Amino acid sequence: MRDDQVPICMVTAYSYPQGLHADLADMDIVLVGDSLAMVELGHETTQYVTLEEMLHHCRAVARGCRRALLVGDMPFGSCEIGLSEALRNVTRMIREGSVQAVKIEGGKRLSPVIDACVQSLGVAVMGHIGLRPQSVSARGGFRPYGTNAVEAAQLLEDALALQEAGAFALVLECVPERLAIAVTTALRIPTIGIGSGVGTSGQVLVYHDLCGMMTHPHHAKVTPKFCRRFAEAGAEIHRGLVDYRSAVKQRLFPSAAYTPYQLDDREWERFG
Ligand code: KIV
Ligand code: NA
Repeated sequence: MRDDQVPICMVTAYSYPQGLHADLADMDIVLVGDSLAMVELGHETTQYVTLEEMLHHCRAVARGCRRALLVGDMPFGSCEIGLSEALRNVTRMIREGSVQAVKIEGGKRLSPVIDACVQSLGVAVMGHIGLRPQSVSARGGFRPYGTNAVEAAQLLEDALALQEAGAFALVLECVPERLAIAVTTALRIPTIGIGSGVGTSGQVLVYHDLCGMMTHPHHAKVTPKFCRRFAEAGAEIHRGLVDYRSAVKQRLFPSAAYTPYQLDDREWERFG
């Protein structure tokens, strides 16, 4: 698709129905992102999601998503502590998570891990550079990356190193558009952008952001600047729940139409 200049479309999913919806919408790639921590589990950063939790959600998505390439995020700390630990955790994602490939966040320092995954284990690895949510601590928050010449040079160096290590694609998160284009041009593997402009080989968005799920009036987390809301699912869910509650309180639900189980007169008399 990269070579044919057909944009690759990727979306995240965290549950069986979300995996099903993504597949029905003909997505090319479905990612069980560690953004699970924030959009589904309510944590402040992605650092809090465990491998066990990722496995649980990956399996659910896999039951719904049968056609798209299914990629699972390696969570914070699962690939950084040592090579054997990383290989063990990647093995679990494939075997117990039912994903077809993994994504590992990090720059060229992660090259030995990616090389071992691809060459020793035979597992396809997607890289992830630019804004790296797992590194918010050292980076001092969620900030775009590559906005000065030093960072831009580092990003290109990381991209080339990860390609060399055997990554089959790279996510570029919150990278300035012209830098994302320069990196895409320098590589022979596809780039999947998020908040990085239209010049990458593909795009990825978080399910909840694009569907407008997190628009609850009391919810502090807002839709990111770069994310277009393609639906207002949150507003629709809110409307449904409020209507349901109101119908119950007024005894308008369940009406006769929704009361299917009856005891006929004869049986009722026998019952006494
Ligand atoms: O966890 C996630 O959702 C991601 C995508 C934004 C690429 O890593
Ligand atoms: Na992620």
